[in-house]
Amino acid sequence: MRVVILKNAEEVSRRAAEIIAGLVKRRPTAVLGLATGSTPLATYGQLIELHRSGQLSFAGVTTFNLDEYVGLPPSHPQSYNFFMHNHLFRHVDISSDRCHVPSGLADNYYEYGRQYEQAIQNAGGIDLQLLGIGSDGHIAFNEPGSSLASRTRLKALTEETRRDNSRFFDSLDEVPKLAVTMGVGTILEARHILLLATGANKAGAVRSFVEGPVTSQITASALQLHPWVTVILDEPAADWLERRQYYVEVEAAQRELETKNQRYYPVTFGTKD
Ligand code: GLP
Repeated sequence: MRVVILKNAEEVSRRAAEIIAGLVKRRPTAVLGLATGSTPLATYGQLIELHRSGQLSFAGVTTFNLDEYVGLPPSHPQSYNFFMHNHLFRHVDISSDRCHVPSGLADNYYEYGRQYEQAIQNAGGIDLQLLGIGSDGHIAFNEPGSSLASRTRLKALTEETRRDNSRFFDSLDEVPKLAVTMGVGTILEARHILLLATGANKAGAVRSFVEGPVTSQITASALQLHPWVTVILDEPAADWLERRQYYVEVEAAQRELETKNQRYYPVTFGTKD
């Protein structure tokens, strides 16, 4: 796991956008796994800027989002479908038939989950999966106790997650109790994973998933089993890491190696090297 600690949330978004844009430039038909929440918002803003300035095209890109609230139609302002259209898709030249956000209105979620997974396979798998993290250590909506081998399915949201996310709704009662989400096993199949965390309220979850045991109680900890994960943190989110100084030294060593055209991390995101 590569842990990169940057000064503030703005630097995090800039670095994340650089990584995503770098992949799309090298591989115009890249398959991106996308996330919602407030953390990736500024990254999407940077990508939109790159597109507007003519430096980046999404014309060949395919996307798959992680999750959606059950019961919210795409027109609902708090649905993840609406979020993605509003904060990214409508601002760039991506083709709408290649943007996939799970449906919050499926009839049969067992069958729907299988179809969503099949669509990911048919697109050739996800090159780069972008993730945030919940304050209880969840990725997507894989709440504590989710199987680390889980696939796309329904999940009941914890009280903590509903409270965290109630800031976007008029009241806690309006926050759906169920979500459809890619599973931990689905996420682990992405070729590269890029997790962003910013702010002091994520410091505990970050410490647990980076340095604690692999456990279904902190589903992000399953990322320890994946060979190519980059975690980009701002200083407040990195504050509780015990080996913080070591990660800084590893990054410095990595930079040094890059000047000599060598590195021990993959040469490019989204390729198999
Ligand atoms: C929700 C989403 C997650 C996201 C998390 C954190 O639970 N399902 O994908 O990572 O919120 O959101 P935020 O970035 O707003 O803290």
